[in-house]
Amino acid sequence: MNHVAISVKGLKKSFKDKEVLKGVDFEVRSGEIFALLGSNGAGKTTTVNILSTLMKPDNGEASICGFDVTRQSDSVRQSISLTGQFAAIDGMLTGRENLILVAKLRGVPKPIQVADQLLAKFSLTEAADRRADQYSGGMKRRLDIAMSLIGKPAVIFLDEPTTGLDPEARLEVWNTVKELAGSGTTILLTTQYLEEAEQLADRIAILHGGTIITTGTLAELKEKFPPAKVEYIEKQPTLEEIFLAIIGKKEEK
Ligand SMILES: Nc1ncnc2c1ncn2[C@@H]1O[C@H](COP(=O)(O)OP(=O)(O)OP(=O)(O)O)[C@@H](O)[C@H]1O
Ligand SMILES: [Mg+2]
Repeated sequence: MNHVAISVKGLKKSFKDKEVLKGVDFEVRSGEIFALLGSNGAGKTTTVNILSTLMKPDNGEASICGFDVTRQSDSVRQSISLTGQFAAIDGMLTGRENLILVAKLRGVPKPIQVADQLLAKFSLTEAADRRADQYSGGMKRRLDIAMSLIGKPAVIFLDEPTTGLDPEARLEVWNTVKELAGSGTTILLTTQYLEEAEQLADRIAILHGGTIITTGTLAELKEKFPPAKVEYIEKQPTLEEIFLAIIGKKEEK
């Protein structure tokens, strides 16, 4: 698919005298998983906030599905959903109640049915009637993502979807994201984990020093930055592989 879902040109944003975004450019095609990679404070959340109309840029342009984020913010809001860096769940409500609430707010027909379908899809049916503040971190993230799917947005923003999750929960979220993209949804996710970008993203952009310093598929990035020298070493399992082997979970699919 060659449709452009997200277009960002020369985006600038300062907070007081601190210039966080100094001219950010990138494009995300429809149906793609795009990872915005950057360290703490690089400006990932600022970028996502501008693209999801929560914040205005000082300069530059951005559009979602052809709608300008500043001039056509209502249409943008109807095309997107945002799962913020910190879960937007109401802990006093049960998982089911959270979903029904969002479905009603978005004016979706048959909110109860929609909630039940999402609970099943995200393996939350058993926990559906427990208060969400008793959920584990992984369950909260899954509920959060489930909430963002209500109304079937064309573009989904996931701001650090797996920060703070254990490896098992991280795999669950990864599989969910892959499934979503498989059904045609465009996904922009931010992450500070190189491995996450490597596992999930069709294309990766590295945000550093206020600009995108490089963009491409993993293969393209590897080609641009070939290893300085070839070394032959015995491959040791990573701690993550050991951890998953011990607790008896294999990566699915
Ligand atoms: N509302 C604000 N007012 C002042 N400074 C801000 C504001 N929002 C962000 N900043 C600053 O802008 C910079 C970029 O912040 P941002 O949250 O976009 O980074 P990030 O890449 O999402 O980082 P993290 O990985 O920690 O989430 C930081 O230095 C931050 O302190
Ligand atoms: Mg952030």
